[in-house]
Amino acid sequence: MSATTIFLLLLVAAGALVFAGIVAVAVRRGAGAEPLTAADLDREALRRDRSAATLRGAEGTATAPASTATEAAPGPEAPGEAETTDEPSTAPPPDPALERVTVDEAEYGVTRRQFFNRALLAVWTLFLAQFGLFSLAFMWPKLKGGFGTKVNAGKLDDLKEKLFDGATVIPQHVNAAQAWIVPFPLELLEKVEGNSFAGLPSVVAGGEADGIGVMAMWHRCVHLGCRVPECISSQGFECPCHGSKYNIHGEYEAGPAPRNLDRFAVEVNEAGELIIDTGTIYQTPRARAKTAEYPQGPFCI
Ligand code: FES
Repeated sequence: MSATTIFLLLLVAAGALVFAGIVAVAVRRGAGAEPLTAADLDREALRRDRSAATLRGAEGTATAPASTATEAAPGPEAPGEAETTDEPSTAPPPDPALERVTVDEAEYGVTRRQFFNRALLAVWTLFLAQFGLFSLAFMWPKLKGGFGTKVNAGKLDDLKEKLFDGATVIPQHVNAAQAWIVPFPLELLEKVEGNSFAGLPSVVAGGEADGIGVMAMWHRCVHLGCRVPECISSQGFECPCHGSKYNIHGEYEAGPAPRNLDRFAVEVNEAGELIIDTGTIYQTPRARAKTAEYPQGPFCI
């Protein structure tokens, strides 16, 4: 499993934890909710209630004297009663806005807090669903192919045709495998005593018919990991970062690199296609005996 896959899985796990936390808080709040009272109303609603109550009180005060006067008008048959009815009451009328009135949930509907909690939950759910889908879509091709797995580089015969321009080798790059493909005469494995590849038959494939096999070398410099380009003029690979140089077979020639370029296991399947196993990497020490001449022309760097 690649580092990117692990990172994405951790990210999904973290998102799931946050989501679970939000759900737990929302459930707890819902379970512990008390019946709603006037105190739960927001300030704006309370202010409006008070304004309405004040208006109602003002209207009552304006109509009260007339009715009181009418009721208290002395009749000819009860002259003494007018004195007791005209006395104003000293107790202030109760302010309805200050009374605590219990409002049940059905009457009140959805509170602002509930609305925001539900909106937050919906947004998080949507975000996590999208994130999960995109993560799966991103990882899906990696599970079936790509770097770290076996990569099909195409027909070996087609590759071999492109590898030579007369006597000059033209290394072929396979992006999906991050690899350079170069030709390698099989006889060199036996002929060059002390070469780096003796005992590693998996690093060369093909060549049963014409004696020319191929190698797949990781394009990553073994010094600090820069991508190493080919140099056609010198017939080798030259790292632009700190100047390490390798010959056409990726054997160390110069610079701070501690070993040869790393290479992958290769094989040719029944369909005649070159399969590069990027999950199997071979590291080889600096060559005691080189299998290629270097340089064969001017350096590129
Ligand atoms: S990274 Fe290639 S020489 Fe340093």
